[in-house]
Amino acid sequence: MSDRKFIKSTNIVTVESQIAREDRIVRNGHKGGVLWFTGLSGSGKSTLATELERRLFNAGYNVYVLDGDNVRHGLSSNLGFSPADRTENIRRIGEIAAWFANAGLIVITAFISPYRNDRETARTASSEDFHEIFIDADLSICERRDPKGLYRKARRGEIPDFTGISAPYEAPEAPEFTVDTGALDIAQSVAALAKYVANAFEQRKD
Ligand code: ADX
Repeated sequence: MSDRKFIKSTNIVTVESQIAREDRIVRNGHKGGVLWFTGLSGSGKSTLATELERRLFNAGYNVYVLDGDNVRHGLSSNLGFSPADRTENIRRIGEIAAWFANAGLIVITAFISPYRNDRETARTASSEDFHEIFIDADLSICERRDPKGLYRKARRGEIPDFTGISAPYEAPEAPEFTVDTGALDIAQSVAALAKYVANAFEQRKD
């Protein structure tokens, strides 16, 4: 896990599991890892995450989605959208995704995660494979889709710190994979992602 620099607790030790990573891989039929989706609101992260989850589940993978809107109803219910709160949100998700991956699952995270540094922190937290996947659609396209009506509200000044309008989005510089949802439809995007996962997480047949 990450080399956490600011641990407040003292007198703590690390407990080691008795189950080897390889044993989990054999049981699950594939290794664990994190598919970290990042992109603007409306780019298609949640849609593609849940569609991909269904497809991978049907193909026999152990897979689970962590989604921004859901997490903000519970684990991150005490956080808003200031830079510091977003950083804390992504730090929590990075740690949890790392656990899921450690347990042998493929975890798909769907968070705007607008700051490069925060995404790097999430990568560092994970001892298993970490794949940054850019769900790429221009702001103009996301704004036209506006599935939740949030861009309209943000333009009217009703939502402060709205990503892309009044808060920044730092696009990935070297993502492991990019899906251009401005050019591909949902089925094409999911197919591209499934192919990528099949290559990256080759299932064991034995
Ligand atoms: S993140 O920046 O911390 O990664 P996260 O993915 O959890 O954000 O949450 C984004 C979701 O919260 C959006 O899909 C949208 O529905 C909602 N939302 C509410 N306010 C904002 C805001 N100011 N900026 C972006 N998204 C917002």
